[in-house]
Amino acid sequence: MNRPASMDPPLRCEGLARSFGGVQAVAGVSLALPAGQVTALVGPNGAGKTTVFNLITGNLRADAGVALLRGQSILGLKPWQVARRGVARSFQDLRLFTHMSVRDNVLAATERSAWFWQPGTGRRAREAAAEAALEATGLATLATARAVDLAYAERKFLSMARILAAQAEIWLLDEPASGLDLASRLRFGQLLKDARARGVAICLIEHNLDVVAELADRIAFLDQGRVLAEGEPQAILRDPQLAAIYFGDRPQEVA
Ligand SMILES: Nc1ncnc2c1ncn2[C@@H]1O[C@H](COP(=O)(O)OP(=O)(O)O)[C@@H](O)[C@H]1O
Ligand SMILES: [Mg+2]
Repeated sequence: MNRPASMDPPLRCEGLARSFGGVQAVAGVSLALPAGQVTALVGPNGAGKTTVFNLITGNLRADAGVALLRGQSILGLKPWQVARRGVARSFQDLRLFTHMSVRDNVLAATERSAWFWQPGTGRRAREAAAEAALEATGLATLATARAVDLAYAERKFLSMARILAAQAEIWLLDEPASGLDLASRLRFGQLLKDARARGVAICLIEHNLDVVAELADRIAFLDQGRVLAEGEPQAILRDPQLAAIYFGDRPQEVA
C-alpha cells in the first residue's frame, strides 16, 4: 500500500446498473476510488448508494456494467471472494455475530484477509491484527463481552474493528458514523484519516454533511441511481440545486 493518489485507482466501476421490478435503483454509475483518498457517496434516501456497494461486493448481481479491482473484473464473484481480494465493507445494520465475543467478531474478519498473495497468514498474525484493531477502536477492554451487550457506539466501532482487522486495500463504509456522539465521531474520523494515510481507498456513505466536509477528499452525489455531480467537497456542498435535491423530501432530523 502507501501508493501515491496519482496512481491508477485500485477500484473502478463503469456503467453499473440494477433494477428491482420497475425501480431502477442504480442506473449507470461510474465511480473510481483512488488510493489514499476518501470518496463520499452522498444523496437522498433511496438514491441507490447501498445498492452500489452491494453490486461491487457481489451481494447483488448487476444487470450491466463493470467493476474492476486492480484491472480485474470482480462482478460475478461471491461476497467472500471479493473480500478476499481486499475489499472490506460495513453494513448499515452492522451484521455482527451478536452472540460471539467482541474479539471473536474481529478474529472472524481476519479469516477473510488471507489474501492469495499473502500466503502463510498464520493464526498469530491474525490475532495480532485483531488486537491492534481492538486497541485502535477503543474496544480492548471489552474484548470478552458479547457483541449483543455493547452500547450502540461500541457496536459501530466493532464494525470498524472488523474492517481494520481485515487489512483490506479498499473500504466501503455504509453510514459508519450515523448516530455517533461528537467524541465518538472524532475517534472515527481519526481512524479514517489514519487509513487514508496508509493508502487505503475509502468510499464513505454518509448523511451528516459536517462529517463529509471534514473527511471527504471528493464527493459523488447520487440521485435516483445516477451520479449527478462529482468533485471537490466545497463545490458540491455549496451547489444550491444539489442541496434542494438532498434536503427536498428529507425529514428534519437528518438535516
Ligand atoms: N433488495 C432489494 N429489493 C428491492 N428493492 C430494493 C432492494 N435494494 C434496494 N432496493 C430499492 O432500490 C432503491 C435504492 O435503495 P438503496 O440503494 O438502499 O438506497 P440508499 O442506500 O441510497 O438509501 C430504493 O428504491 C430501494 O427501495
Ligand atoms: Mg443505504
